[in-house]
Amino acid sequence: MLICKYMNFYVMTLFPEMILQGMSQSITGRAMAKGAISVEAVNIRDYTNERHGHVDDAPYGGGAGMVMQAQPICDCYEALLERIRRQGAEKKPRVIYLTPQGRVFDQSYAEELAGEENLIFLCGHYEGVDERALTLLETENVSIGDYVLTGGELPAMVMMDCISRLVPGVLGKEESADIETFHDGLLEYPQYTRPEVYRDLRVPEILLSGHHGNVEKWRREQSIERTLRFRPDLLPKARLTEKEQAYLRGLLAEQELGGN
Ligand code: ADE
Repeated sequence: MLICKYMNFYVMTLFPEMILQGMSQSITGRAMAKGAISVEAVNIRDYTNERHGHVDDAPYGGGAGMVMQAQPICDCYEALLERIRRQGAEKKPRVIYLTPQGRVFDQSYAEELAGEENLIFLCGHYEGVDERALTLLETENVSIGDYVLTGGELPAMVMMDCISRLVPGVLGKEESADIETFHDGLLEYPQYTRPEVYRDLRVPEILLSGHHGNVEKWRREQSIERTLRFRPDLLPKARLTEKEQAYLRGLLAEQELGGN
């Protein structure tokens, strides 16, 4: 997969401070300071033609809540697109609209998007966005999970955070070794650090043994056990050795016995 050397994020939102405050912390903040990523939050309200600054109105056909109007969104987008073009972009950036009605975001989608140079996010609020704006912007509709949030800002930040860590130079050398969240399609094993005993809870003896091979084997087994317990749906695609498959069969047999 081709991953770009840097990434420019553009966020169309009614709450630009929320985006900038969130993204300027921690690892993404460091990446912005280094120039590995850039984050620009554009206020949709700045583009309204409405003299009171409104950006929403009641839905045609009736119903609760307000709908974000097409005009400020489309004008905001066109101004942004023109600016991105002038900065030398050759292709039209992909536009992501955050909505619980979208395709569910996952690691492979993040990897695909990390190959882009510019990404535009459209954050909705109220009851939604006039469908014509989505048609005109040719949005990709994306959800971060089956639950409903108050707006698209947090989902946009979730996506940018996840994509950022795939951009070269964002994570340190040590951190990027761990670039696959689900190593071999399994959940992570448990981690421990000093002290050896905390509130009567001991670090598993094997981790203190200094026997690298045994530690690795224990960690893999822990990963398999956790995946079986918390995310059994991942197991059919997990990459397991013959021995590990036998270990998993043992766990499943135990489970069956326990269930009877
Ligand atoms: N907006 C509100 N809820 C959302 C979700 N779960 N994913 C993406 N955008 C949203």
